[in-house]
Amino acid sequence: MLAPISISAIALASLGVTAAKQCAQFDTSNNLYLFGGEQDYNLGQSDSWSSPNPQALTSAGRPPWTGNNTACSLAQYNNALYVLDADAANPGDVYIYDFAAGTWSKQTTTSPPDLASGSSVLDHDTNVFFALPGDDGSLYSLDLSSVTNQASGNAIAWEAVTDPNFKMEGRQPVMSQASNHIVFFNVPGNPAGSANMFVIHYSYFQPEVQAFSLANGATDNFPTSSGQALPIPLASTDAGKQIVFVPDDFSHTYVLTHWTNPGDWSSLSDAPAGIESLINSTQTLPAPSSQDRSAAYAASVNTLVQFTSSGDVYYLPSAFGNGWTVQANAAWQKLGYSVAGLSGASQSTVVSSASGTSTTASGTGATSAVGSPSTSVSRASGTGSTATGSTPTNATNSGMKIGSPLFAQAGVFVIALAVTGALL
Ligand SMILES: *[C@@H]1O[C@H](CO)[C@@H](O)[C@H](O)[C@H]1NC(C)=O
Ligand SMILES: *[C@@H]1O[C@H](CO)[C@@H](O)[C@H](O)[C@H]1NC(C)=O
Ligand SMILES: *[C@@H]1O[C@H](CO)[C@@H](O)[C@H](O)[C@H]1NC(C)=O
Repeated sequence: MLAPISISAIALASLGVTAAKQCAQFDTSNNLYLFGGEQDYNLGQSDSWSSPNPQALTSAGRPPWTGNNTACSLAQYNNALYVLDADAANPGDVYIYDFAAGTWSKQTTTSPPDLASGSSVLDHDTNVFFALPGDDGSLYSLDLSSVTNQASGNAIAWEAVTDPNFKMEGRQPVMSQASNHIVFFNVPGNPAGSANMFVIHYSYFQPEVQAFSLANGATDNFPTSSGQALPIPLASTDAGKQIVFVPDDFSHTYVLTHWTNPGDWSSLSDAPAGIESLINSTQTLPAPSSQDRSAAYAASVNTLVQFTSSGDVYYLPSAFGNGWTVQANAAWQKLGYSVAGLSGASQSTVVSSASGTSTTASGTGATSAVGSPSTSVSRASGTGSTATGSTPTNATNSGMKIGSPLFAQAGVFVIALAVTGALL
């Protein structure tokens, strides 16, 4: 007689439970998606998570999810997910999930850098990826401005942008984005609470290391450490101005705020309301419940999610979205649902006791949609024309074409030089 145990063992084996890197992402309506398990799922908005009702996504065209360094980014203007390193055998392929249509497509690229190492950022305004591999070579870019929510038929070339003004010396690059600046964590020699910066629209590494001061009762600053960083989206379609950083020591969940007026670095006149006192600051949230260095994270306008390598989901409701001040005493909760088919493999995981086993409703205004996909067409071209209010975008977007020879636009270069002393 065939025991049920053997059947389930066979079933598990045939599901191919491998060391894939799972990922999580919110769409522009704050629905949470969990990718990389035996199936991909839509968990809906946070006010429904007390009774999780996962909807399986189509398997047609989904990535094999075999990458070690899989990275999921939201193209907010397109309401699309872009996935790097989703296929270890074809690491240059960018998988695109159209959240509205529920369909996958695959964008081929040429000359990809080593995406199995390092870190990447999708520039919110221009739809250009930046990637820094772990080999201390160039920063690379991939211009997806001609791609919106579906792959184009033509391969797109990765291009070397410029060498960073720092070396990682074998440490893991960790990068994210705020106010059109890429922020680099874990740079050797930087004191705690500081990071290097690349000013995207000027294609310029800020010479000075940027310091972040403690705010909102924070008692410690982010360490110079590997970890994971991600941008916090805004309910408008503006570029985000805050970054979540979860270091591998799990000392805290850190939230950095950065904003500069692109036209006048010393001016706060166009700063979003309430952000002034938090620019260049670090706030803290509780460390994640599960100390899983292989966990994936996702942020909506109000909620932070941790999706562990064994398929569990923890979340911090109402962490963001109340102006620029985070809810420092928010408490992690655990979703009463796990995604099957993940190995929980690579790193040791310690689950602290902070959270209960099941969820309570968060009810945190999850219905406030993030912007409108209807703006996608004009933004996908990289004109920067739809930003509202605070950012005079022409100076930034109309100049340097990312990936073109550096400083091709002499005028922009001169401006960049002129402000060197003032910092960007
Ligand atoms: C992924 O990581 C595993 C374990 O460290 C390693 O054996 C494998 O070669 C890696 N794959 C790639 C494509 O880097
Ligand atoms: C941006 O460019 C458009 C078209 O050239 C122009 O109408 C608009 O005034 C410019 N905006 C700024 C902030 O310079
Ligand atoms: C943020 O830091 C930069 C670099 O130190 C500085 O130029 C800028 O004035 C700071 N902004 C604010 C609002 O303090």
